[in-house]
Amino acid sequence: MLGNLKPQAPDKILSLMAEFKADTRQGKIDLGVGVYKDPNGLTPVMRAVKAAERKIWETQTTKTYTALAGEPEYRDAMATLVLGDVGKGRVASVGTVGGTGAIRQALELVRMANPDAVIHVSDPTWPNHLSIMNFMGQAYEMYPYFDSATRGVAFEAMLDGLRRAKKGDVVLLHGCCHNPTGANPTAEQWDAIAEVLEQTGAIPLIDLAYQGFGDGLEEDAAATRMIALRLPEVLIAASCSKNFGIYRERTGILMTLTADDKARELSQGAMAYLNRQNYSFPPDHGARIVSTILGDEGLTADWKAELEEVRQTMLGLRTQLAEELRLLTGTDRFDFLQRHRGMFSRLGATPEQVERMKQEAGIYMVGDSRLNIAGLNRDSIPVLARAIVEAGV
Ligand code: LMR
Repeated sequence: MLGNLKPQAPDKILSLMAEFKADTRQGKIDLGVGVYKDPNGLTPVMRAVKAAERKIWETQTTKTYTALAGEPEYRDAMATLVLGDVGKGRVASVGTVGGTGAIRQALELVRMANPDAVIHVSDPTWPNHLSIMNFMGQAYEMYPYFDSATRGVAFEAMLDGLRRAKKGDVVLLHGCCHNPTGANPTAEQWDAIAEVLEQTGAIPLIDLAYQGFGDGLEEDAAATRMIALRLPEVLIAASCSKNFGIYRERTGILMTLTADDKARELSQGAMAYLNRQNYSFPPDHGARIVSTILGDEGLTADWKAELEEVRQTMLGLRTQLAEELRLLTGTDRFDFLQRHRGMFSRLGATPEQVERMKQEAGIYMVGDSRLNIAGLNRDSIPVLARAIVEAGV
């Protein structure tokens, strides 16, 4: 039977990771997978995470099962982190296996509620969004998003695309730090997006994987909160992988906001049911790290301070890269790198140029020319800038 399986195309981001590892050249530069790296190229465990783990180790007396929806402390803390005071009493939630698990559960929830829903996704979007939907046989359409000339949001085209969504369809939005482009709507543009959602009756599904990596923890949640205030039904898939740096712990959450108690209770029941069908209880260790940090003022302050250092480091790298390219090209063509936010920027190079940078300079970025800004440091920036110019980008 198993011999009948078809070979699967490898995931592009993950196979790039393996290719980089296998490259024996000195000075190779990894700008592929979305993992934060400090100036020494390391992805350290955050201080508050270590402290929380110590506390858990010292105080935890059992590893027996916890709640099917995940621990209430974690879910409440995450609702506050993402939504602040917005949506109190309207939220249902379950812990999930990372942010990806939250996306998957969200799509399954949509399928249970409305099998005819079409999911509208940005062009481009995180490739795994498409891969999961293809696997599930979920219908989707792409709305224009990226303006390849300005490397900003193609806003009017985006709105036109969103207007095609029908009542009961779902619009997948990146709450901040758009992956893969790094281009994000302004606050006014977010308002206009909410207005179109109101007009069409489509339901937003917000993927929030990089809160705290763009303009700040509160700022990065502003669009999500505004939409949660205005729209009757909202789905939010949030990840703790990046902002808590607990990638391998697989810590995520799916939240729904509903217009009434009946829908909230049905939603809570359906999400817990989905957990049970897909993996039973969600992972607890990462969730407990997060609730331990967010339940302790001192740990929260230290976590916020370290996250802010991470954010500032990435902003500094953006500025330095844009300056280096200004010097080399004598133009401001690459200033968009400074305007983009989050871990990624889409450079706008052709696949051939991306390949050339890999072959000639040992620089690894995703084939669509998405580069992980956090993979850079002071020394590698001039190398990258030169390679960009030599490749003719
Ligand atoms: C990325 O986009 O690089 C990250 O979200 C990691 C992943 O799983 O693809």
